[in-house]
Amino acid sequence: MNYDELGQITIPLLDWYRANKRRLPWRESREPYRVWVSEIMLQQTRVEAVIPYYRRFMERFPTIASLAACGDEELYKMWEGLGYYSRARNLRKAAQVICAQYQGNFPKEYDKILTLPGIGAYTAGAVASIAFGQPRAAVDGNVLRVVTRLTQDGHDITDAKFRSLVTERLEGIYPPEGQGDFTQSLMELGAVVCVPNGAPECVRCPLSYLCGAYGSGTQRQYPVKKKKPARKIEEKTVLVLSCRGKVAIRKRAKQGILAGMWELPNMDGTLGEQEICAWLARRAFGGETPVRAGRQLKHIFTHVEWHMACWFVNCANEGDDAGITWATAAQLKDAFALPTAFRKVYQYYQLSCVN
Ligand code: ADE
Repeated sequence: MNYDELGQITIPLLDWYRANKRRLPWRESREPYRVWVSEIMLQQTRVEAVIPYYRRFMERFPTIASLAACGDEELYKMWEGLGYYSRARNLRKAAQVICAQYQGNFPKEYDKILTLPGIGAYTAGAVASIAFGQPRAAVDGNVLRVVTRLTQDGHDITDAKFRSLVTERLEGIYPPEGQGDFTQSLMELGAVVCVPNGAPECVRCPLSYLCGAYGSGTQRQYPVKKKKPARKIEEKTVLVLSCRGKVAIRKRAKQGILAGMWELPNMDGTLGEQEICAWLARRAFGGETPVRAGRQLKHIFTHVEWHMACWFVNCANEGDDAGITWATAAQLKDAFALPTAFRKVYQYYQLSCVN
């Protein structure tokens, strides 16, 4: 089909969504705050992974005001493992703006929503349509896949201009009622039927009879995506320093990757035993000989990949590095937010202690 025929999808897609939608916790209410939090969490993170985080977050921060008032440590702890921590910082910042400028009520106007920290066209469209019933589209990778297959459109979907063109086209075919359902029906079709990686489930698709790619058997040729540059590999040396049942952690710099989060002490590059011993001696840890963990652990971020050589050290005392905090296992579990890269190393250490 071509873009002028796109209006033919609205009714069959809405009907399909209403009969087949997954029951998800953020679909139980149209409260803008709840919709907003879910859409932020769902960026870059799978539905199944988000569900427990979402439930916990809404329980702890039931209102915009409660989120606006929360401290860094708790905020990071609630987000631990979800990644992209700037999403959490922006959520809180936006909550503070909403409290200061809109008496704690989420603004209804699309243009006002769009000015909030961390909210771009996708999130603004999702909240405006799902919570407020406005004919605004929310175009993510799922939606782009659906649309480019329907229309056999070979444009590069990473191009922002193309994305806004698709948004405009979709906004031209919104139904007079059920705008939020229509937004979610596009996402849902992309998530469960018109799937990436392998064959889409066209036999279950309510739009297959309209779909250009299905008609010509070219589903796998869409969407077209410009290749991303390869991730940069960074070698790291990560230390698990233990002293009388506690483990050393420290705060990361306020800038850069994982800004302001907790970390295990680590250095750039792959250090040898002598260099590590010298590092330990400078801080008067009285360390026993460092033990190199057998395996190198990897952690993948969006643009970089860490290859972490891990060393375990039994320290005789807590040393004199003022930047170090000594945390118990219970505190590491419940109080300090340790990003996944370091949590992997810590878990490896815990396993090695048991065995
Ligand atoms: N992905 C992004 N937004 C979503 C939503 N509201 N429901 C399910 N998956 C989604």
